[in-house]
Amino acid sequence: MKLRVCIAADHGGFDLKNELYVRLKNKYEVVDLGASAFDDNDDYPDFVMLVVRAITSGQAERGILVCGSGVGACIAANKVPGIRAGLCHDTYSAHQGVEHDNMNVLCLGGRVIGIELAVALAEAFLSSSFSEGERHRRRLQKVLFIEKEFRRNE
Ligand code: RB5
Repeated sequence: MKLRVCIAADHGGFDLKNELYVRLKNKYEVVDLGASAFDDNDDYPDFVMLVVRAITSGQAERGILVCGSGVGACIAANKVPGIRAGLCHDTYSAHQGVEHDNMNVLCLGGRVIGIELAVALAEAFLSSSFSEGERHRRRLQKVLFIEKEFRRNE
């Protein structure tokens, strides 16, 4: 069964997202959640919302978010319990982030990298899986503890 991946971008990542969708769609079950048209005035949190909803509801297993730098999308995505987003512009982090940290959203900067690196990063991210190693699970439990602790004290 193909991995279900959702992808979205604001205007800063619009072109890269469209190119990436075309390059990935035959190998993975990719759902393009927008933007569907270029809008210089759109806001990245709106697209983050679509991707995180798809993942937390189980419609998709992984997400790829593209904004201008990848930073805003990464910050917004990590606000959501159960989302582990990483901004990766090197392939080591793109696979190690999944293997050790169970990263489920890859953030990319459409104004920072080109399509060939974006494809290599997406492939590294999508072809990796969590190690299930005891030390990695322990660290993730501690990440979860931080999440719970701060939610409780709000
Ligand atoms: C949009 O101009 C830009 O600020 C946004 O795409 C992103 O880079 C934010 O981190």
